[in-house]
Amino acid sequence: MTDTLPPVTTRELLRKKERGEKLVVLTCYDALFARLLDGAGVDVLLVGDSVNQVLAGAATTLSATLDQMIYHTTIVRRGAERALVVCDLPFLTYQVSREDALRNAGRVMQQTGCQAVKLEGGQAVAETVRGLVDIGIPVMGHLGLTPQSVHALGGYRVQGRDPDAASRLRADARALEQAGVFALVLELVPAALAAEITSALTIPTIGIGAGPHCDGQVLVLHDMLGLNEQFAPKFLKRYATLADEVRAAVRAYADDVRGGRYPGPEHSFSA
Ligand code: KIV
Repeated sequence: MTDTLPPVTTRELLRKKERGEKLVVLTCYDALFARLLDGAGVDVLLVGDSVNQVLAGAATTLSATLDQMIYHTTIVRRGAERALVVCDLPFLTYQVSREDALRNAGRVMQQTGCQAVKLEGGQAVAETVRGLVDIGIPVMGHLGLTPQSVHALGGYRVQGRDPDAASRLRADARALEQAGVFALVLELVPAALAAEITSALTIPTIGIGAGPHCDGQVLVLHDMLGLNEQFAPKFLKRYATLADEVRAAVRAYADDVRGGRYPGPEHSFSA
């Protein structure tokens, strides 16, 4: 039962870190799953630009558009009562100029009703983060493997393994905290480095492939439900095997239809 709990705010996420309570985050792309996840007590629904891969079938997140993210965030927001809804700003909507970033993030907040945006990068985007925070837009940061830079990073690989890369990550995390992010996603980062960054920051870190010491955890919903069978990285734990269930249900339905067992009299209307 979560309906008596107050809505999650960015301040509440900070309090949770102070109290040592882990943050539960999942990606979400539609109203139906938003209702289910919200009812199950998930703290943050992240409308990730991974929607472009998971639902739209693209190879990377790079072709996700602002309109696409606004659509998915709007429908997630309809299903969310308690959880904080965060919209990923897609590639090229915040990197070109600060003005672009303010206008695009402002449009997201105005049109979707979400409570925050997320963007990727460290020191290079810190000034932009400050600009967004200054006009009242809460920002979640994202460091480590930043999928919008996948080609520059040479693939989906663990980041921060060598000393120079680890120092850059620490400096990026500090710059983002100083710029005002309310939380920071750490993706594909060695566990010890993620632990170090987590204890150095006052804002919560949210790990994905970043070990057990972050303040919270995020997974792509369709991966943890076992719907996306092609994706099986080491960090992923599957909590269900829904792809098997979907196939079995659809085969049973097809057998019934072909065998004349469905629909039966109990599914039919009288005159
Ligand atoms: O787009 C996304 O789903 C994300 C998470 C993997 C953190 O950024």
